[in-house]
Amino acid sequence: MDRILIRGGNRLNGEIPISGAKNAALPLLIAGLLTDEVLELSNVPRLADVSQLNRILRNHGADITKRGKRSGETMLSGDTVRVHAEDIVDTTAPYELVSTMRASFWVLGPLLARCHEARVSLPGGCAIGTRPVDFYLEAMREMGAEIDIEGGYVVARAPGGLKGARITFPKVSVGATHVVMMAATLANGETVIENAAREPEVADVARCLVSMGAKIEGIGTSTLRIQGVDRLHGASHRVVADRIEAGTYAMAAAMTGGEVLLKGAEAEHLRAFIRVMDEAGVAVREEQGGLRVRRNGDGLNPVFVETRPHPGFPTDLQAQVMALLTMAGGVSTIRETIFENRFMHVQELVRLGADITLSGDTAHVRGVDRLIGAPVMATDLRASVSLVIAALAAQGETELNRVYHLDRGFEALEHKLSAVGADVERVSG
Ligand code: UD1
Repeated sequence: MDRILIRGGNRLNGEIPISGAKNAALPLLIAGLLTDEVLELSNVPRLADVSQLNRILRNHGADITKRGKRSGETMLSGDTVRVHAEDIVDTTAPYELVSTMRASFWVLGPLLARCHEARVSLPGGCAIGTRPVDFYLEAMREMGAEIDIEGGYVVARAPGGLKGARITFPKVSVGATHVVMMAATLANGETVIENAAREPEVADVARCLVSMGAKIEGIGTSTLRIQGVDRLHGASHRVVADRIEAGTYAMAAAMTGGEVLLKGAEAEHLRAFIRVMDEAGVAVREEQGGLRVRRNGDGLNPVFVETRPHPGFPTDLQAQVMALLTMAGGVSTIRETIFENRFMHVQELVRLGADITLSGDTAHVRGVDRLIGAPVMATDLRASVSLVIAALAAQGETELNRVYHLDRGFEALEHKLSAVGADVERVSG
């Protein structure tokens, strides 16, 4: 199994290209199941989760091909992927494929909308909470589907096709919004989604669906109004930049005291994050082509951070901001309101010398003068990258094990960090 060795202490300086967003690429690839024509997606990040999803889509009969690189394109230009689901040959998404990635459950929406049936294994994914699927199932029922749970599978049927409905989510859910929005594009009549997720990745998928012929109003707001159409057609779409990757590298630079330009990052998607950075003493400024990040002074200020659905502070940056605040001058408070068990990085950060106490959904982080490298274990995707951030500032060497978690969500991480001066090395075996 691969490990990553990081020798801390180097400042990061230079440019980091930001990849396409994993959390947009996955539902966009799934949206390819909605049409028998070709959906071409560019700026698709090369990640283990994308490869895994492609296996799942191929199992349904989709033909997935990657365009070869053109001159001038680098290994960091992202892939151009064509999804051609001319014929759906299998409406079952089997446990062996779905269990490793929760987002693959989202095929439920397109399969049910297009084929009027789906048999999808209940999901696995990150161990960051119970992560139920009740909102999805309730919404599909409201759209006229019959749903049974049989042997760990959701078995859904809508013999006459799905019908439009008014869906009000009890709580904001990114995945449930994706699924209902995709399903509604081919339903009979109008669907209104209230309390829809407003994440930029949801808006990106909505825009792609519109270019495929879907009728969606309210994109980027919490009320989506979708008129079902008979069929969707092919389209070309570029995956939005990964705001979580951008925020992560912003904090890596802030942690080491360097200055980096995050090429392609969009400030509009990171407002709450930028406000928190500002309070912490980290300047994140928009400039032509990206975001420039540097610390304002020598030290970092303690801050209060509470995770919220977009446009609030993203839960996917919570572990990383905790790593950053381990070296602030005072006590910071971090409250996690989205997932109940998303503090698994705490014990690992403590192994690097952090001073963190947990009480329910709140972590108190007392800044320390220095962190010291140690062997640590990645537990989930975002947790593992928080250990990378801490290790970049720690004295001595940190050995990060179980890096497959990082490979699920961060494209060419060690390459990007080495290029701006970090001492990072991947050791195979
Ligand atoms: C997506 C993101 C993930 C991010 C999360 C929250 C992708 C591939 N993943 O995950 O990176 O951390 O949004 O921003 O885009 N819930 C229910 N019942 C449901 C569905 C959700 O109770 O049927 C709860 C969840 O347990 C959680 C909350 O709703 O407490 C939000 O989860 P949700 O937005 O659905 O997360 P995902 O879509 O799985």
